[in-house]
Amino acid sequence: MSKTLKPASPEPAIRVVMMPRDTNAEGTIFGGVILSLIDQAAYVEAMRQAHHRYVTIAMREVEFHQPVFVGDVLSLYANAARVGRSSLTIHVRVAARRRLDPEQTVNVTAAEVTFVAVDEHGKPCPVFT
Ligand SMILES: CC(C)(COP(=O)(O)OP(=O)(O)OC[C@H]1O[C@@H](n2cnc3c(N)ncnc32)[C@H](O)[C@@H]1OP(=O)(O)O)[C@@H](O)C(=O)NCCC(=O)NCCS
Repeated sequence: MSKTLKPASPEPAIRVVMMPRDTNAEGTIFGGVILSLIDQAAYVEAMRQAHHRYVTIAMREVEFHQPVFVGDVLSLYANAARVGRSSLTIHVRVAARRRLDPEQTVNVTAAEVTFVAVDEHGKPCPVFT
């Protein structure tokens, strides 16, 4: 397995349409849904970098700058920020294309997700051997 991080992909790790089931009591999209998507997008990128069992150890600096609405198309761009021995940190940027104005795409939030590669006993193991 290569010991260097692959360059970022220009394509989103995942793209998803927000549905009525994803809303909070205000009718906008529940932040927890987006956190889950960030975790998934980061996982996709982690697996592209190095195939492992991973667990999420930390998610940092999540600040929502814009609301997200039903019918918006979210694109989650993920790139590997740094690798340690057993940890791999992925930066995720979330952009929303508005259902009511497809010409408009806004940056919603960004976050860093750190995974730890684990062995069959759940113990940390090297990302790159
Ligand atoms: C992940 C887990 C296996 C790590 O076990 P541990 O014995 O604490 O491991 P270590 O102290 O050796 O740390 C492992 C790596 O995590 C990194 N790490 C530890 N705490 C961290 C934190 N708060 N943020 C970022 N990285 C962290 C360490 O720097 C180390 O990285 P490195 O090997 O690249 O230097 C263990 O904490 C665990 O199972 N946590 C639960 C994970 C989980 O279930 N997540 C899903 C959500 S519930």
